[in-house]
Amino acid sequence: MSETRAELPKTYHDAVVHWQTHEFPDYPMLARVWDRFFPRDGPFCLCAKVADGVSDLIEVGDLVGRPRATTPAELDPKAAHILLGQIRAQASTEFGSIQQHTGTLHRASDPQDQAWVLRVMAEELRHGYQMIHLLTSVDWSPVTDQKPADMVEEILSMTTGSHVLAAFNLEFDSFTDNVVFAAFIDRVGKYQLTMQKVSTYRPYATSMPPMLKEEAFHLAAGVVPLRRWAEAAARGDALVTMDALQKACAKWFGRALEMFGDDRPDANGGADSVRLGLKDMTNRQAQDAYVAEVTQMLDDLNERYVRAKRPDLSRDDAAALHERLKRDRGAADGIAYDDLLRLPDRRFFRRRGDGAFEMWGFDGERFDDVERCIAHVASRLPEAYRASVDVRHWAETLRRVRAKELSLKDAIKSQPRLARVGGPCPCSRSVRWVVDEAGAPGA
Ligand SMILES: [Fe+2]
Ligand SMILES: [Fe+2]
Repeated sequence: MSETRAELPKTYHDAVVHWQTHEFPDYPMLARVWDRFFPRDGPFCLCAKVADGVSDLIEVGDLVGRPRATTPAELDPKAAHILLGQIRAQASTEFGSIQQHTGTLHRASDPQDQAWVLRVMAEELRHGYQMIHLLTSVDWSPVTDQKPADMVEEILSMTTGSHVLAAFNLEFDSFTDNVVFAAFIDRVGKYQLTMQKVSTYRPYATSMPPMLKEEAFHLAAGVVPLRRWAEAAARGDALVTMDALQKACAKWFGRALEMFGDDRPDANGGADSVRLGLKDMTNRQAQDAYVAEVTQMLDDLNERYVRAKRPDLSRDDAAALHERLKRDRGAADGIAYDDLLRLPDRRFFRRRGDGAFEMWGFDGERFDDVERCIAHVASRLPEAYRASVDVRHWAETLRRVRAKELSLKDAIKSQPRLARVGGPCPCSRSVRWVVDEAGAPGA
């Protein structure tokens, strides 16, 4: 599918570039390493990309077969409201993930892994740019009183701790997080974008194909190092162990599930968006498909682990051994079931949706005692993460919910209070990211 490229008006383009100089200082490094690591790909472009050839007709929902909307004013008011929320949340994830990756990018032990994450970050910047393009290229006044410049300002002012979704408010503890995040969280992004390809709002639908192409690379930036690490772990020369990977999976899986929205099996979350033609799966349907895909990813990693641990076995025998370990959950031929990676129960360590602030264990066991539950969950999380404000907030909230001092509703709404929340551009000369020509510093 061919695509057309567009640049933002100078004010907004400059605001994004200004944000990049503060929040993504490693960006210029990408141009320097591009030819070495991506010799077959054209140079990176910080621009909006719009797919050509997308159908003019609505694909799902009550209005299927009717023309797609090309401006917010043409949308059903409820659809327009949900769509604006989708675009803002998407923008928040794009800029938020760059802030997370930045913290540990330099701890990569392999130059290729680092270059791949750097490219992921640049592409997230482009995705954020794309969302700003959507917010500033048409008139949103029928949907919101907020001016375009203020919407952009709000997005660029978010920091780790003040983003829309919890997955983007967690600090990375090591480069393991950069990789596991790409494998787990970018994969949710892939599901969101794929669902929204059908969007009844044409400019959004046409934004999805180029983003999805890039998202495929982000998944590889997660899975390829994970494969190498699992094989190294089996050979005993691992710097990253299976235990470390297992714990990182436990850190991210619940946050990934929560990105789908209300996933309680009887809540039918997301049904309105399907009916209004904004996406083609409910929250739980999409999440089920996601869980199946992540299960397959871990199966693949485990099979590679078994093969590397027992190079004397044929491929078929190694696959059979892997199946036996999964079935019996014991130990055989020098490998234990507990050496392999597995997903936690969906209700483990949840703060929204299915299982929120209930006391479920890693394998779906139920706890009666809150302190035993907290100790169990903590023992499954990475050591560095366990000591964070995020985990402490979860534990304290769980205690208060179980003691009936806090309602579930308030618990779900409460956020860990981080020191760095919101805030203007750190430049001493300006207080806004979006600066009018006339009001530009020094002008
Ligand atoms: Fe993205
Ligand atoms: Fe991504």
